[in-house]
Amino acid sequence: MNRFALGILPTPLVRADRLRAAVGCGPLWVKRDDLLGFAVAGNKVRALEHLLGDARARGRDVLVTGGGPDSNFVAAAAQAARVAGLDCELVVWGDPHGTTNLALATAAGARIHPLGSDDRGRVDGEVARLGAELEREGRRPLAVPRGGATPVGALGFACAAAEVVAQWTEAQAPTVVIPVGSGGSVAGLLAGLAGTGWRVLGASVSRPPDEITAAVLALAGATAALLDSPPPCREQLTIVDARGPGFGVASPADRAAADLVLRTEGLLLDDTYGAKAAAVAIEHVAHAGPDPTLLWSTGGLVSALSHVSELRGYRPEVRSHSPEGAP
Ligand SMILES: Cc1ncc(COP(=O)(O)O)c(C=O)c1O
Repeated sequence: MNRFALGILPTPLVRADRLRAAVGCGPLWVKRDDLLGFAVAGNKVRALEHLLGDARARGRDVLVTGGGPDSNFVAAAAQAARVAGLDCELVVWGDPHGTTNLALATAAGARIHPLGSDDRGRVDGEVARLGAELEREGRRPLAVPRGGATPVGALGFACAAAEVVAQWTEAQAPTVVIPVGSGGSVAGLLAGLAGTGWRVLGASVSRPPDEITAAVLALAGATAALLDSPPPCREQLTIVDARGPGFGVASPADRAAADLVLRTEGLLLDDTYGAKAAAVAIEHVAHAGPDPTLLWSTGGLVSALSHVSELRGYRPEVRSHSPEGAP
């Protein structure tokens, strides 16, 4: 396993007792991957540590990957590639103008290749094509699909599984609630939790549960094979549909869940991933009785902050404190 260290690990595992009191449930914990300590990327740093470790071990000099204009992964990939001594080329679907994540990627020195289409399904093919083109030009590229969802990338979350198991102090194994996009993080987690009795509840934000579950199980199997560990256990995993009104758009329940987490624990969640996972966690604990639950906070701070600044109808409440008689 070739890891290029970027994050500050382990991330804290904290009790969420105020949130627990507010929702009335069993022990509730939060794994703070929003505090991963490299750039503002959150969970994706774990995958990038292994992808870039592998790239360096294989003498690669340019990371080629891609995603959407708001992708946390592309910003993190650009920053991480530079720190690891590689160039970075990014294929981006949709409108590549005016997003903070792409500005960050560009500031870090990445080159953006607009796909010129909203069809995100075409990004991985274009990444492979661009990688082959760079190779013909004499470069040594590592082409990585959207989200870093490869068996090597998923090793990051297999290691995170060992990390959190070592931190866990309750007698009973928890259910881990985690957002699922490309599926790389949850696949690694599942591979790393094999044989532990922990359960994983994924909140799928972009694909129907059946489709993403099949992809996650295949990726978890390939990750376990890399680790020479037993195949992942299907029964440990449930993925529910958390797409709601659409990718990146929170439902009223998602927003209410995120607001509750902010007001009880001071934890800022984004609409795309964090709010949806929090809503799934709150729904889950309503039926979990005294069983412990662990919400994996994955970061996404760039979009969380832009949401805060865009809140529709927000008016600061201003109270006048002028002493009586003051002009
Ligand atoms: C903040 C955040 N949380 C969760 C995810 C989902 O992780 P994965 O794509 O590994 O399923 C992402 C993906 O980009 C993300 O940026």
